Amino acid sequence: MSRRGHSMRSTKVAIVGAGPSGLLLSQLLGREGIDSVVLEKESREHVQERIRAGLLEWTTVELLREAGVGARMMREGLVHEGFDVAFANGHRRIDLKGLTGKSMLVYGQNELQKDLAAARCDDAGAVLWEARDVTLEDFDTRAPRVSYTHEGTRSELRCEFLAGCDGYHGVSRSSVPRERLAQYERVYPFGWLGLLADVPPPHEELVYANHERGFALCSMRSRGRSRYYLQCPLEDTVEEWPDSRFWGELRLRLPESYARQLLTGPSLEKSIVPLRSLVTEPMQFGRLFLVGDAAHIVPPTGAKGLNLAAADVWVLSRALVEFYRKGSATLLEEYSARALSRVWKATRFSWWFTLLMHRFSADPFTQRLQSAELEYLASSDAASRTLAENYVGLSFD
Ligand code: APR
Ligand code: PHB
Repeated sequence: MSRRGHSMRSTKVAIVGAGPSGLLLSQLLGREGIDSVVLEKESREHVQERIRAGLLEWTTVELLREAGVGARMMREGLVHEGFDVAFANGHRRIDLKGLTGKSMLVYGQNELQKDLAAARCDDAGAVLWEARDVTLEDFDTRAPRVSYTHEGTRSELRCEFLAGCDGYHGVSRSSVPRERLAQYERVYPFGWLGLLADVPPPHEELVYANHERGFALCSMRSRGRSRYYLQCPLEDTVEEWPDSRFWGELRLRLPESYARQLLTGPSLEKSIVPLRSLVTEPMQFGRLFLVGDAAHIVPPTGAKGLNLAAADVWVLSRALVEFYRKGSATLLEEYSARALSRVWKATRFSWWFTLLMHRFSADPFTQRLQSAELEYLASSDAASRTLAENYVGLSFD
């Protein structure tokens, strides 16, 4: 399309945000012959460089393969059949495969982001990077519109449906009048300090550690690249955490056997994220659908964020396909209820796992309950199965 043509353009589905939600939705629709345009405020490079979690449920893996973006992921991703939960009086390997028949795949979100962007950018004009000042209009009508500034020109995109895939800070949720939505929120009184380094992980599986000094997690991106997290006060800054302090603290919080295996190296990235749970209800307003982080946030403890986003995309893409193939709006009308039923279950799980693994208060009663629950988990197959079943992801519907 010519640049002049950009000032007024139309498509079936306008998608705000080119994170994993927006690009995957556009990709799935494209494969069904449904035209969409993605408007992203940042540059492609910026979006690809963001470091996020990297743990995919098998349902997410299958969806990405179905979308035709799974080849590199299947080659380079690491299949994980279990993980370790460590605490003061012991540890337990959660045998995901044995308890549920399912595994997880370790594959960095930014790698996935690159694969999705490469697939979508084959389709010229399908993604507009650096589209600024996006505004959503008329989403209660059959002819919604999106205005944006791209390459210095204010333009308008006319569409039949709008997908708000623009994350927690996006414009979509905030375009909905406050009285039309309910937001359920929990803010946790600490953050996660993350560090990425080119060193092999101390164990071949992930290690979640509950320690009196605070939670610690050993994760990875590949056999030679580790990702670590430490629970830290919200007021802390990255400057207060030089690498040497990070490694020293991590060693203190890990069980002896892993601390001994820990190899250190210069950090490639270090950041602090706050932890929160947020659910917005409903997830549909006329012809505007909220998807992924735009509608809900989970604390990263169970790595559910990306997987929930993929599930929303699946539900919405099926509904749009049904609409364009059969003219039926039934699935579109059910979008919010179907997505929210899964969202709340994952919200409950992420909240529970966060409570179990972190230091919250000095209250001795609370601490003894937490220790009792960890000991119960370590000794009970039923408790381990419940954790495993939620961790690998609940089935759709
Ligand atoms: N206009 C256009 N794009 C916007 C706007 C805006 N006003 N506001 C935000 N965006 C873009 C962001 O720059 C980002 O690229 O929307 C995108 C949202 O992407 P994500 O935040 O990654 O959200 P989502 O695609 O739903 O992915 C969910 O990513 O954030 C993690 O933990 C989360 O893993 C989960 C997954
Ligand atoms: C990560 O690798 O970034 C990661 C893994 C598991 C989690 C959270 C984050 O629970």
